[in-house]
Amino acid sequence: MKRTMILLVACLFAFCWSSAVFAVPKGKTLTFSQAKMGAVTFDGTLHNNAAQKGCRDCHNPETFPKMKQGTVKITMDKIYQGQLCGICHNGTRAFAAKGNCGRCHKR
Ligand code: HEC
Ligand code: HEC
Ligand code: HEC
Repeated sequence: MKRTMILLVACLFAFCWSSAVFAVPKGKTLTFSQAKMGAVTFDGTLHNNAAQKGCRDCHNPETFPKMKQGTVKITMDKIYQGQLCGICHNGTRAFAAKGNCGRCHKR
């Protein structure tokens, strides 16, 4: 009985560990620092939890095709049109971009 429990806990650990390793981007944060408004810190773990279809929510041909930073130019126009970060930051799935500049851009 005790051994089964230990085994179970060990499996749980292994599972959590592997999902943490693959969390995006690898449980780290990406910084987008080109806007004069201030740098935007993207939390991979938070966003992986928010994703419904996992990586494919963002890593699909229309959104962020490559798993590499700097391959897509992010503009506010696209976000306001519901593309890129705007697929969620539209006031429905997540807070809207308009009126919430300071939640993303930090000086
Ligand atoms: C909420 C959106 C989102 C989700 C979900 C997401 N990613 Fe990403 N990921 C991004 C963005 C945005 C970039 C940067 C792309 C760019 O700048 O062109 C990125 C970049 C990456 C990078 C490159 C990081 C670097 O340092 O260059 C890797 C690796 C990656 N993602 C892996 C994953 C994996 C694996 C998953 C699923 C477990 C995942 N991502 C889920 C948005 C997401
Ligand atoms: C899969 C949906 C999704 C996508 C795509 C997405 N986000 Fe988010 N984001 C969320 C959710 C959900 C939260 C949690 C806050 C909320 O519920 O409104 C969040 C929170 C954040 C926060 C934290 C703000 C705070 O006050 O805590 C930042 C910064 C952020 N997102 C930036 C981005 C950027 C930059 C992109 C595009 C590269 C992006 N997000 C794409 C869903 C998403
Ligand atoms: C969901 C997160 C998020 C919110 C909210 C947000 N931005 Fe951005 N913004 C970004 C990201 C990511 C970039 C790309 C930065 C980079 O490439 O380094 C960007 C780029 C920009 C740029 C330069 C590119 C362009 O489109 O001109 C400006 C200016 C800007 N933001 C202004 C704003 C203003 C003003 C607001 C509020 C009305 C705002 N942003 C709200 C994420 C956000």
